[in-house]
Amino acid sequence: MSQKTLRSNTSQQSHRLVILGASGTACDVLEIISAMNMAGGNYSCIEILDDNQSLWGCDFHGVKITGPISLASSMDNVSFINTLGSPKNFGIRKVITDKLQLPKERYATILHPSAVISKSSTLEYGVILYPNVVVMANACLGDQVIVLANSVINHDVRIESYTTIASGVNLSGRVCVGPKSYIGSGSSIKEDVQVGKGALVGIGSVVTQDVDDNSVVVGNPAKKISFIK
Ligand SMILES: CC(C)(COP(=O)(O)OP(=O)(O)OC[C@H]1O[C@@H](n2cnc3c(N)ncnc32)[C@H](O)[C@@H]1OP(=O)(O)O)[C@@H](O)C(=O)NCCC(=O)NCCS
Repeated sequence: MSQKTLRSNTSQQSHRLVILGASGTACDVLEIISAMNMAGGNYSCIEILDDNQSLWGCDFHGVKITGPISLASSMDNVSFINTLGSPKNFGIRKVITDKLQLPKERYATILHPSAVISKSSTLEYGVILYPNVVVMANACLGDQVIVLANSVINHDVRIESYTTIASGVNLSGRVCVGPKSYIGSGSSIKEDVQVGKGALVGIGSVVTQDVDDNSVVVGNPAKKISFIK
């Protein structure tokens, strides 16, 4: 099934989803699922898994947190949404995915109905698109890429797996963002720029030159301030 068809799953049988991580992103994902259902979808989030034992048994916006993330390995007939990762630990989504060893098809793609997605773009498994995201012609988004509200992914952009694009980001044509990176809110990246793997672009930055692997760049024009170990 094309990932884009998940947006309009109107089958009688509800598509059962389990969220990994009781995070702020999880809260947003529940809103996106609700919007998808309002648009005719048929999804239910049945539980949330989180490694913080003190949360087990608690209610999270109407969904129960039932146990550790490792339980996912033994769950059948559900799809997972990996919401882990923040500007402070954005590599965690891949770490958890590697531990679980589930087929990549088990991660659901969650697309807010207001997202505009070019027919010529490609979205891999587990992509999450927030409200008003625009994905233009020939853009490619790898596994478990998350794009927050109001970001624009222009033509021929490539975003590799496990990368997060925060809100209000503008990726100009042919930009390439490596795997496990984080592009901070409100940043703009000039056309043809390559951002390396595991890199972080600080909030509000204007990136005019390539960014090295694992480096942190900030400002306008963006300059390197540190490395991520
Ligand atoms: C880049 C970032 C990770 C640095 O965080 P940090 O390691 O805690 O570093 P600090 O806040 O101590 O900042 C170090 C220096 O860089 C400067 N700086 C930090 N972020 C900056 C930014 N985005 N633009 C310009 N300068 C920045 C600080 O002012 C400070 O300068 P100083 O040494 O002259 O005082 C953080 O500021 C950032 O931008 N994170 C992304 C936030 C984001 O997009 N959140 C979205 C959530 S949905």
